[in-house]
Amino acid sequence: MLIITKVIEFDLFVYYILCRSLHKGEVNMNKLTGKIALVTGGSRGIGAAIVKRLAAEGASVAFTYNSSQKKAELLVAEIQGSGKKSLAIAANNAQPLAIKAAVEKTVATFGKIDILINNAGIFIVKPIADLTLEDFEQTIDVNVKAVFVASQASAQHMEEGGRIITIGSNLAEHVPMGGMSLYSLSKSALTGFTKGLARDLGPKGITVNVVHPGATNTDMNPDNGDHSDGLRDLMAIPRYGDPEDIAAFVTWLASEESRFITGAGLTIDGGTNA
Ligand SMILES: NC(=O)c1ccc[n+]([C@@H]2O[C@H](COP(=O)([O-])OP(=O)(O)OC[C@H]3O[C@@H](n4cnc5c(N)ncnc54)[C@H](OP(=O)(O)O)[C@@H]3O)[C@@H](O)[C@H]2O)c1
Repeated sequence: MLIITKVIEFDLFVYYILCRSLHKGEVNMNKLTGKIALVTGGSRGIGAAIVKRLAAEGASVAFTYNSSQKKAELLVAEIQGSGKKSLAIAANNAQPLAIKAAVEKTVATFGKIDILINNAGIFIVKPIADLTLEDFEQTIDVNVKAVFVASQASAQHMEEGGRIITIGSNLAEHVPMGGMSLYSLSKSALTGFTKGLARDLGPKGITVNVVHPGATNTDMNPDNGDHSDGLRDLMAIPRYGDPEDIAAFVTWLASEESRFITGAGLTIDGGTNA
């Protein structure tokens, strides 16, 4: 009886200490407190949702933008207003030196980089006869070359527990309509790169994965666009994803809990490719 009373007293003491610490903000209830992240193309759409969710989980988040300076400034203000740290960096994905500089600025500002999210992308849709070499080069520069450059530059600074997550597309796996050849080519290139890089960085405790969203309601693919009904018809869950659906999964993948997942392509598309 005396032992049971003592155990209960001890439990109550631990509970009291926990409550006191929580009240003082001493206990870390967020998955990513202390982590530093860089998101490419964080000013709008899926990238902006990822920036917000990483910050909500406690990370300090730098992100790049190309044309949306005002949106980038508003996003930084929103995150700083919630007591978290954020930094917007102007960097065109098509310019390798700008991407390298964005990684270095992140490290110089926050002291390190733990998480890289390769998100920025463009979507040029045309039948093969209409595609130009300029379309090809632009798509490869933004969707593929920048991923290589940002990953290489970030990996040099990452320590054990580092995360490289690239946003691909379910069109890398299955192409159910015409006009997508160039975009699909660029997104499927990310699968091979992810697998190879996972092998290079696995021994250092850094994981590398590619997330393949399906139709997600953004400026790139609005849920009331010309092809949206056709896309909904392909889905097991017949609705567009929200950017937050992708952000929630990416943020979990950036956390310690995902530590044994690497070299994987992870599809989040409401069952479109099922
Ligand atoms: N939405 C979908 O249905 C869907 C499905 C599968 C995969 N994805 C992929 O998800 C990622 C995000 O797409 P989203 O739907 O959020 O697109 P979005 O609404 O068009 O936003 C694109 C983002 O990428 C940035 N960006 C574009 N070109 C850039 C460049 N040259 N340099 C730097 N940043 C650039 C934009 O920044 P600025 O505004 O500052 O230019 C913006 O923040 C892309 O990789 C896309 O391929 C999207």
